[in-house]
Amino acid sequence: MAKGLFITLEGPEGAGKTTNREFLAERLQLAGHSVVLTREPGGTGLAEKIRELLLAEHDEPVAVDTELLLMFAARAQHLQQLILPALEQGSIVLCDRFTDATYAYQGGGRGIDPQRIAVLENFVQGSLRPDLTLLFDLPVADGMKRARLRGQLDRFEQERHEFFEAVRNSYLQRAQSDPERFRIINAALPLSQVQQQLLPVLDEIRDRDGC
Ligand code: TMP
Repeated sequence: MAKGLFITLEGPEGAGKTTNREFLAERLQLAGHSVVLTREPGGTGLAEKIRELLLAEHDEPVAVDTELLLMFAARAQHLQQLILPALEQGSIVLCDRFTDATYAYQGGGRGIDPQRIAVLENFVQGSLRPDLTLLFDLPVADGMKRARLRGQLDRFEQERHEFFEAVRNSYLQRAQSDPERFRIINAALPLSQVQQQLLPVLDEIRDRDGC
């Protein structure tokens, strides 16, 4: 059994996951916890190369199953090389996106049957699931506006509005069906108010990690 805590941050582009992940990490480190920050797709040298393939434009259409398998190929590498060793050492792993993103984007957005995703989830992860998942939720138009301000859009960010509505609905359905694991954060509010919502989450993490 892994000793650490596996915490994932989910939500659309422009939801502030990276900024808030750093906020959480800083607070936890100050309280004496060992924290590992990582992201998906990516997190190791090889997995980051797979990420580049996934986000880039290609001369041919990317088949939805190819996209799905590349996500899990990156995840398998990330788990073996980084996440599992960190959990075994007792660290808190704060991961920007994980398999809930696959259910939301490849399932909700691309229309892949969630049961097929579940087969790969079990194959790659065994029984490992996040201990806690923070869903940074905000209206699609707000997230897209923030993503556009950041500069050039990747292959996912160029998707249509309906794609992101399906992603959002899928995330919210998952959160509602598993309230034990998910905490929904209203990410449409100003940053200080988003961080206020993270304070009880920090208490919960400290309690669970016993520090
Ligand atoms: P990021 O921009 O948040 O780092 O994520 C890169 C993109 O990858 C983002 O548009 C969401 C997408 N993605 C999936 O489609 N499925 C997945 O399983 C993951 C982890 C990310």
